[in-house]
Amino acid sequence: MAYLMGVDIGTSGVKTVLFDTEGAQIASASAEYPLYQPQNGWAEQDPDDWWEGAAHTIREAIEKAGIDPKAICGVGLSGQMHGLVMLDKSGAPLRRSIIWCDGRTGEECREITRLVGKERLIEITANPALTGFTAGKILWVRKHEPDIYAACRHILLPKDYIRYKLTGAFATEVSDASGMNLLDVPHRRWSQEVLEKLDIDGVLLGKMYESCEVTGEITKEAAMATGLAAGTPVVGGAGDNAAAAVGTGVVSAGKAFTTLGTSGVIFAHSDQVSIDPKGRVHTFCHAVPGAWTLMSCTLSAGLSLKWFKDGFFAAEAQAAAGLGIDVYDILNRQAARAPIGSNRLLFLPYLMGERSPLLDADARGAFIGLSAMHTKYDMLRAVMEGVTFSQRQCLDVLRELGVAPKHMLACGGGARSPFWRQMLADVYGCEVATIASSPESPALGAALLAGTGAGIYKSVPEACAQVIRENAPLPPNGADGPAYAPYYALYCKLYPALQESFGALASL
Ligand code: XUL
Repeated sequence: MAYLMGVDIGTSGVKTVLFDTEGAQIASASAEYPLYQPQNGWAEQDPDDWWEGAAHTIREAIEKAGIDPKAICGVGLSGQMHGLVMLDKSGAPLRRSIIWCDGRTGEECREITRLVGKERLIEITANPALTGFTAGKILWVRKHEPDIYAACRHILLPKDYIRYKLTGAFATEVSDASGMNLLDVPHRRWSQEVLEKLDIDGVLLGKMYESCEVTGEITKEAAMATGLAAGTPVVGGAGDNAAAAVGTGVVSAGKAFTTLGTSGVIFAHSDQVSIDPKGRVHTFCHAVPGAWTLMSCTLSAGLSLKWFKDGFFAAEAQAAAGLGIDVYDILNRQAARAPIGSNRLLFLPYLMGERSPLLDADARGAFIGLSAMHTKYDMLRAVMEGVTFSQRQCLDVLRELGVAPKHMLACGGGARSPFWRQMLADVYGCEVATIASSPESPALGAALLAGTGAGIYKSVPEACAQVIRENAPLPPNGADGPAYAPYYALYCKLYPALQESFGALASL
């Protein structure tokens, strides 16, 4: 029997899953790690927390499966995108990673736009300079921590740091590198022009691969740390969203999915490079060679719900732990007690600023319409509705660009809730399905990329055709779509009305 392993370095934790070559989940293990917010709008994580979690969960998954590690034909990595990992000459991290939802680099993004030119930057990197992306973070460290920048010998993305620890290779792949503002996205290689204009030495960056190419093999030290067999191939893998696309079978034109993870994403496959001239959604290389993607990112999707749960549902969390059930199951039932519109309460999910479609790092969260009659259950439903409205706003941008999916797959922690999936179907006005094969879409996608690199499947689309099966879709619920419509219309008016105040608040 042959097995494939997917390791997903998420924001709340790492998930390692072992699959057979038919995509059946054999064993999984997960570990959580902290998110540091040293200032309002900043977000950092420790790369060695990721590595400790990865090494530990790889060993646990192999032990749970009770298999010979030599039967694992390949390892694929998936990870949160955009995070900056800086290593010294010995390969040790020089500082915590500044991650994807950190909004400190507004000034650096303006500098990048000035140095490269607005149109030229979009022509080459397919995206405007965005605070979440990596180039601004590099410039920020160069300006504010010059000693760290001077000692830096390698710049990697989060999952690529795990690759380095597993294989000793300094490498990356096109889907994740697309989110750095340094890649020539149409040609799938580092842009010498952008690097020169930003005065960043290209030798700092990893070697570029396609997502299904083998980038190295497990070293003896990594074998000791993880229980994997030395010599096991590790493929490029993908940024978490492109990996989830492979894990949900979104690998051909017309297909799309929504993630409700820490971030919220709408992701559509595209056979050509198509760019939103206003930069409201991203254009990245897909994990499928010769394909690209259009993708939006709501920064605080599951993060909003987790924030609200941690602040207001401590008693429920304790009860759930005692009963051995998931606290989110309780939350779903509590939210369903409030009616559509949450008794006339709206929530803006901009807790970490907002990327798609607003591009405003200064935006912040808000409840609008609070009354003394509201309970925390109304607020809970309003949080879920606000996140869903934000996703719908991004879908509307894709629709404006001619991508109008009639069928949407849903993945990520939030998509486990039938209540939230129905809300998505009603607010999107299209049917929403889940994957029968495995709910761990990024890990499954990474494993399928590993299987392609190991020669088990002929191509990424063939791997998906062999493995991915969908459950019956949920259609929109008759009158509920129209019932949400006036609340969504109001939601869309709130950011423009508050934009100036958010800016003023940020400058205090
Ligand atoms: C995508 C993005 C997030 C992260 C974290 O652009 O920033 O989805 O990948 O999951």
